[in-house]
Amino acid sequence: MATPILEIQDLHTYFKTKDGVVKAVNGVSLRLEENRVLGVVGESGSGKTVTALSIMQLVPIPGEIVKGQIRYDGVDLLGLTSEQMRHLRGREISLIFQDAGAALNPVISIGQQVEEILQEHTDMSRRRIRDMATDLLHQMGIPDARTMMGRYPFQLSGGMAQRVLLAIGMALKPRILVADEPTSNLDVTLQAEMLHRMRQLREESNTAILLITHDLGVIAQMADTVAVMYGGTIVEYADTRALYSRPLHPYTWGLFQAMPRLDSDVKPLKPIRGAPPKMLDAPDVCPFLERCHKAVNQCRTGPAPKLIEVEPGHQLACYNPMVYD
Ligand SMILES: Nc1ncnc2c1ncn2[C@@H]1O[C@H](COP(=O)(O)OP(=O)(O)OP(=O)(O)O)[C@@H](O)[C@H]1O
Ligand SMILES: [Mg+2]
Repeated sequence: MATPILEIQDLHTYFKTKDGVVKAVNGVSLRLEENRVLGVVGESGSGKTVTALSIMQLVPIPGEIVKGQIRYDGVDLLGLTSEQMRHLRGREISLIFQDAGAALNPVISIGQQVEEILQEHTDMSRRRIRDMATDLLHQMGIPDARTMMGRYPFQLSGGMAQRVLLAIGMALKPRILVADEPTSNLDVTLQAEMLHRMRQLREESNTAILLITHDLGVIAQMADTVAVMYGGTIVEYADTRALYSRPLHPYTWGLFQAMPRLDSDVKPLKPIRGAPPKMLDAPDVCPFLERCHKAVNQCRTGPAPKLIEVEPGHQLACYNPMVYD
């Protein structure tokens, strides 16, 4: 097995609120290899964004990483000073968010925001930096990049803003790109273009990509392997192909049932019944128990099933998985 560039082990990130402790990430382990795309799927509130923020060490107060390790090239990021972490962020590990409008600084011009990352991490002359920033915007498909450099975020359409964000995220050809719903606000054409740019980055720079999305179609196009998150934990992990052809966890199976099919326009989108867990202090049972149609006694008595390898490369946390002939 290749050495992972990023290895998360038993990560716990909690929010201590006045209503109790929200266990947003509750024992997540993941590995990401160079030049690979790991997809992370799961419904709203399952802990995907908090996992991404934990990697970047940008978890907002009152959130806190209470346990676990996040190794980048063998070094535990949680042991670094904020200065050392700032040095890695943007240059070696970069994060792009869904909401470009919120991620860009409203009072700084687009050009300056792209230049800033180059200034912070390289010794190039101002002129070189300006040219390179213009180039980056141009490469992201921004027309008349030179003029655009002087514009402010509010003067851009959502699609343009997303391109700028991607230009910033990819400026220094990071070794890891964490992309949190990078395409979910975009129309289909722009989405395809953004995915293409990410693939290009991967090919040119061997960048490893952690791709977080609700969109199983995007995962199918992009990801080599997929981790399915539920209630702050990973319930299934496998090769994309294996997961799509034989999802073993009842939750994963439900996700695919809920996915609209291209081959039939009569099948309605079918939501999984029940509500997602609150993730406040909960008994040690499977987080999916209340909504599971396959639950057996062991699921009710606990402890919560652990993620174990059930087939080569296929991991599952379930006592009573789906069965196929
Ligand atoms: N600042 C916060 N204070 C308290 N709880 C929080 C905070 N941020 C996130 N959470 C909680 O952490 C859990 C995980 O949230 P997270 O944003 O990671 O979900 P997600 O999987 O990214 O969802 P979505 O698909 O909607 O983006 C949720 O229960 C959420 O309410
Ligand atoms: Mg999120």
